[in-house]
Parts: sequence; structure tokens; C-alpha cells
Amino acid sequence: MLKPIKLANKNFLSSLDASSEEIDHILEVAKNFKNNDLNIKLKDKVLGLIFDKSSTRTRVSFQVAMSKLGGSTVDLNPNTSQIGRGEPIRDTARVLSRYCDVVAIRTFKQSDLEEYAKWSSKPVINALTDLEHPCQALADYMTIKEEFGDFKNVVLTFIGDGNNVANSLILCGALLGVEVRIACPKGYEPNSLVIKKAYEIYKNKDLLKITNDPNNAVLGANVLYTDVWSSMGEENKKKEKEKDFNGFTIDSNLIEKADKNAIILHCLPAYRSKEITDEAFESKRNRIFDQAENRLHAQQALLSCLLN
Ligand code: CP
Ligand code: NVA
Repeated sequence: MLKPIKLANKNFLSSLDASSEEIDHILEVAKNFKNNDLNIKLKDKVLGLIFDKSSTRTRVSFQVAMSKLGGSTVDLNPNTSQIGRGEPIRDTARVLSRYCDVVAIRTFKQSDLEEYAKWSSKPVINALTDLEHPCQALADYMTIKEEFGDFKNVVLTFIGDGNNVANSLILCGALLGVEVRIACPKGYEPNSLVIKKAYEIYKNKDLLKITNDPNNAVLGANVLYTDVWSSMGEENKKKEKEKDFNGFTIDSNLIEKADKNAIILHCLPAYRSKEITDEAFESKRNRIFDQAENRLHAQQALLSCLLN
């Protein structure tokens, strides 16, 4: 039976906190969990959940993952704990380290997550920041691997806002050697440091392309991926962004230009007739709900590799 190997880094704040081999290993462990081939128990281990933003998938998949592993979760809602009243991060981190074995945090600034991790003696997981969503990327690449068997010759085209989800797809894609194309409107390109780091990792620099032309980016692509146009915390930019993202909807026109066996992914939640048409969302090419299910298996694997 496959045995989860402990990750070299204490935390998973970024896709880059794991090596290529470690990401491969997490995906393999996740597959084993999905197939019920693993019986790892994290009995009595407690995962703390600090969510400054809404969540359905991430929160529930972490809760169910811990429950399946024999551990439990504590929901540390910032509104009902002292976190929301401004208790310093470094104090919260030191206290919760005495109660919890691992903490997953969803917040705005990556620097707040890093500050927490600096003061925590226990592993910290990024459950989404404005910069990255590395747990999402694990489930995404697991879904792609399920479909295509491996990542050789797979072209992933992301159409939308170059923020957290796109940034993690780039970094994890670089580690796995996947060709990633990002098509976004001008001014919505992925984080420049993320792009720089990805180019340092890619052995073949042609494998990452950032463009403002979605029609060109989807040519022959095997995976079409999109995310909401207005992320959490950007509710006041909704109107402006809808205008800026005109032409960046995954629809039958873009799908026709992709490979004929291309699959469609979306991290969810989805807004029909904005980033994706209802027809595209509901088409037989969608693997969106397998992708959502894989959040559970990937996080079981991640927790096993952080806590064993
Ligand atoms: N994809 C994702 O992270 O979903 P939630 O916001 O529901 O957690
Ligand atoms: N980019 C989106 C992802 C949601 C899972 C957001 O940050 O709201």
C-alpha cells in the first residue's frame, strides 16, 4: 500500500511549497484515496479553519476530509472569535498552535497568511488568498491526469482573470511541466512574480504563454478553464469588470477552436452567461463536478502528507 511521504516544507502556502516530485506524490496519494486503496488515519488530529471569505467547496471538503481520516475540524469563524476584533495574527497563531495540529486559512493578503505561518508551530494551508489557490490547483491537475493519463502534450488554456486560481495553475503547471496558456484582458494579467518564478521552473520556456487573445489561446487546447470575473472582495468592481471581460466567455465559438476532445473545467462558483455560457457549462465535455469532488481527495492527500 502506498504510504504518504512527509513534505519537506512545514506549510502549503503556495504551490511552490511543494517540489515537482511532491506534487506528483500528492496526486498519486489522492488517486489512491479516491479508489479507496488507502486507509490512513489521522486519529485525534484537529484542523482549524479560519475563513475570512465565503466558501462551500473548500470548507466542506476540508471538513469531510478530516472526518474520513478520523480527525476533526474546528470552525474558527473570524466574526465570532477574537480574530475579527483585531487580535494580532501572531498571538492567534501562537495560541491555536497549542490546540490544533494544522490550520487552513482563507483570507485576502498572502502576507497575512505568511505572517500567521511564521508564528505557527503547526502546518498552515492556503485555502485561498488574493494571490493563490494552491489546493484548487491540486484538484485541477488531478482531474486533468484522470482524463488524459499524464500531462504529456496536454495544453491547458485558462480564460479569465489572472488572479489566484490562474496564478496557482501557472505555478503547479510549471512544476508538472504542463503547457499553460492564460488569456486575459489587458490589465488583468497574472502576478508578475508568479510568471517570473514559473519561467525559472519551466525547462521549456515556450510552455507558458500570457496573451490578451482568447481565440488564439484556445487553438488545439485540451483543457478550457475559467473562473469568476469578479472575485470575492471585488463586488464593487463587478460592472467595470463585466465590460472589460467582454469576449472572454467560454462559449461554443471558443470550444470549436479547441481540440475536439477538450474538457471544460471551472473552479466554481460559476456565473452563467458571464465567464461561461450555460451550454458550455452543461456540455458533455464538462468535468466540473469531478473537479469539485477531487478537492476532497486532493486535500485528504495533502493533509496526510503534512501530518504523517
Ligand atoms: N472553488 C472553491 O474554492 O470554492 P469555494 O469558494 O466554495 O470554497
Ligand atoms: N477567483 C475566485 C475564486 C473562487 C474559488 C475568488 O477569489 O473569488
